[in-house]
Amino acid sequence: MARILTGIQATGVPHLGNILGAILPGMELSQDPKNEALFFIADMHSLTAIKDPEVLKHNTYSVAAAWLAFDFDTEKNIFYRQSDIPQVTELTWYMSCFTPYPMLANAHSFKDKSDRLHDVNTGLFVYPVLMACDILMYDSNYVPVGKDQKQHLEITRDIAAAFNRKYGETFVMPEAKIDTNVMVVPGTNGQKMSKSYGNTINVFESDKKLRKQVMGIETDSTPLEEPKDPDTCNVFALYSLMASKEKIAAMRANYLAGGYGYGHAKQELFELIRHRFEGPRAKYQHFMENQDLLELELKKGAEKARAIGLGVLERVKKKIGYHHG
Ligand code: ADP
Ligand code: TRP
Repeated sequence: MARILTGIQATGVPHLGNILGAILPGMELSQDPKNEALFFIADMHSLTAIKDPEVLKHNTYSVAAAWLAFDFDTEKNIFYRQSDIPQVTELTWYMSCFTPYPMLANAHSFKDKSDRLHDVNTGLFVYPVLMACDILMYDSNYVPVGKDQKQHLEITRDIAAAFNRKYGETFVMPEAKIDTNVMVVPGTNGQKMSKSYGNTINVFESDKKLRKQVMGIETDSTPLEEPKDPDTCNVFALYSLMASKEKIAAMRANYLAGGYGYGHAKQELFELIRHRFEGPRAKYQHFMENQDLLELELKKGAEKARAIGLGVLERVKKKIGYHHG
């Protein structure tokens, strides 16, 4: 059994890019009977940036609701909120005593902002140690992350190795699992879909808002009656990421034949999204309207995670010499 662990930042309501690029691949990993997945909402990391309690809470719930809307199996796996097991910060202190200062000063998460140091809080500086402890406290074997997180995994291994060298084998050595052929979902303007570019398609919005976003996808001005190039069109690109082979072929033929407008293609894309995500959208709504259900799930996950995490913490404390009697 391999233990797979990953943290999900609570930065907003997950959009189509997050769903296709992170949630669905994560679901697939978690369904493998050889894996036990620990997925958590990194709400302590979010505090480095989000200082509004309502926003933090709402983001946490909406990320939880999205994962559960896709039927993440919380019996087989563990789904929890980082702040429910605050002892990870205790381990962060211990491990920070094994982290050379220059290693953190060189971390991209900090270094990229070093030209405006007055904006950098110490939390952001220590961020990689907290992330290392998220991983080490649960004896994780594999950590699926994007390539932007590769350096954090190297730091994690370095810190764990430094501790192991000093006290003998204590931590499981985690490995990054970086999927290099992850799909990049284009946004409404053709750039990578991202909250920060304002080009998202929000599957979990109302039909009206969702339709407006789909209708707002940028296209060229080829007149309706003329043939169109499917391979340079955003609408077709998005449709191709979700539709069946036959439907993709049919839309391609329509583009090439002419007499088929971008409005038609957008309407088909809208209907495809509605159809494809009908179940998850209803479940997401249900969870957001019944947040006590989310709390129940998160508490259940926290109990399971705590049992593992506190065990590892005890192991560490014993090695350091904190056990009396
Ligand atoms: P955003 O760019 O909207 O801020 P995040 O950086 O919070 O999104 O990404 C959260 C997860 O979703 C990451 O695993 C990231 O790789 C994935 N993701 C985000 N945008 C896309 C996209 N356009 N295509 C594929 N995956 C994406
Ligand atoms: N830093 C990660 C990100 O921004 C989130 C994260 C926090 C994480 N702790 C983790 C990812 C532990 C993997 C393992 O995406």
